[in-house]
Amino acid sequence: MFKVTSSTSATQNNFIKHDSAMLNQFYGTNDVVPYWVADMDFPIANPITQELQRLVDREVYAYEFDSSRVFAAIARWNETAHNLSLDPNHFVQVPGVLSAIALLIREFTQQGDGVLIQTPVYHQFRRLIESAGRVVAGNSLKIEDGHYTIDFDDFEQQLKRGNAKMVLLCNPHNPVGRVWTRSELQTMVDIARRYDVIIVSDEIHADIVFDDHTFTSIVSLRYEKAVSIIGSPAKNFGLNSIANGYIYTDNDALYQQIKSTVSSLAIDHGNALTTYATIAAYEKGREWFEGYLQYTQTTVHWIAEFVASSLPDITMYKPEGTNQIWFDFSKLQLAPDTLKSLLVNEAKMGLTPGAWFGETNPNYYRMNIAVDREQIQASFARLHTAINSL
Ligand SMILES: Cc1ncc(COP(=O)(O)O)c(C=O)c1O
Repeated sequence: MFKVTSSTSATQNNFIKHDSAMLNQFYGTNDVVPYWVADMDFPIANPITQELQRLVDREVYAYEFDSSRVFAAIARWNETAHNLSLDPNHFVQVPGVLSAIALLIREFTQQGDGVLIQTPVYHQFRRLIESAGRVVAGNSLKIEDGHYTIDFDDFEQQLKRGNAKMVLLCNPHNPVGRVWTRSELQTMVDIARRYDVIIVSDEIHADIVFDDHTFTSIVSLRYEKAVSIIGSPAKNFGLNSIANGYIYTDNDALYQQIKSTVSSLAIDHGNALTTYATIAAYEKGREWFEGYLQYTQTTVHWIAEFVASSLPDITMYKPEGTNQIWFDFSKLQLAPDTLKSLLVNEAKMGLTPGAWFGETNPNYYRMNIAVDREQIQASFARLHTAINSL
C-alpha cells in the first residue's frame, strides 16, 4: 500500500536534493525545503522492497539479467494502463533515459545537425544535444488562454529549413505539464513525415497523468520513424537511482540498428537489482501506484485551489501530467532578486528557476510535488504570509 512517511530521515543519505553544498550554491542557504529535483520522498512499493531484499539476502550476484521478462512486464503494464500494444521483442535496454537520448542523438544525427526541442523543456535535453556537437533547434511553446500549445508553423519551418534532423519530444512535458493529445501528436507526425525526420519521444512520465487526460505514446501513431523511451520505473515507482532506460520502436530496421549499436557498447542489459526491481514494479506494483497517483492528484487539486483562492497573483499551469508544477510569479511585479529572496528566505521553498529550462522570463519556477502534502501546505502558508506582507 502507498504510504507517505518514510523511515529514511534518521539514516545517513547522500540524496542530491538535500545536498548542502548544492543548496547553498543555488539558493545561498541550505535552509529551504528542496522542491527542485524531480524525484519522490515516498517509500517505494513493498513488492519492490521485498524483491530487493531477496537479492540482498541471498548474498550472491552471479551474472543474471532477465531482459525478456522486463520487456514483457513493461509491455503488459502499458497494455493495461494505456491500451498500448508494444512488442516485447522490440525493446532495447540502456542504463537510463538520458543515456538513451544521448545515444539516439549520436545514432541518428551528425555533428552540426539540429535537434528540435520544445522550450521550456527539461534542461538535460539541451546539454545532451550540445555536448554531442549538435545544435538546439528551439521550437518555443506558446501560451494560449493560459494553456501551453505547440507552435506548429515554427515546427514546420524548422524542419523545412532542413537544419533539424531529429525531433526530441517530452511527453508528458516537463516542466509545463502538458500531456500531448493524439491530435497534436498526429500533426507533428504529419509534418515530420513530410520532411522525413525521426521523432524520439521521452515518455518517462507516461503513467503520471491526471483527471480525464490520456497519455498517447508516439508509437501508437504508427509513424515509421518514431522511437519512444518508455517503461522507466524512475518517476512512476520512485526508482530514480536504480532505474534503466528502455528504447522502443515498432520499426524493425530501426530496432536492429539501435540494438546493434547498444550491444556493440556492451550496455544492453541491466544489473540484477535494477532488473528484478523493475519486474516487481510492473508485475506487482499496481495497487501502490494507484495510491501514489491518487495522492499526487489530490496534491495538485489542493495547490490549484489554494492558489486560486489565496494567491491570485500567482499563475499556476495546472499539470495534466508529471509530478511537477510550473508557476509564473509575474503578476507580483517583483524584481528577480526580490522574488528569489521571497521564495527562498521567507517561504523557504527551493524551487527550480525557469531559466534552467530555457525560459527567458525570470518569474517562472518549477516545483516537484512528489513529497508529503503537509510539507507543501506549510510552504504555501509561508508563501501566503510573505506575499501578504509585501
Ligand atoms: C523528462 C525526463 N527525462 C529523463 C529524466 C532522467 O532520466 P534518467 O535518470 O533515467 O536518465 C528526467 C528526470 O527528471 C526527466 O524529467
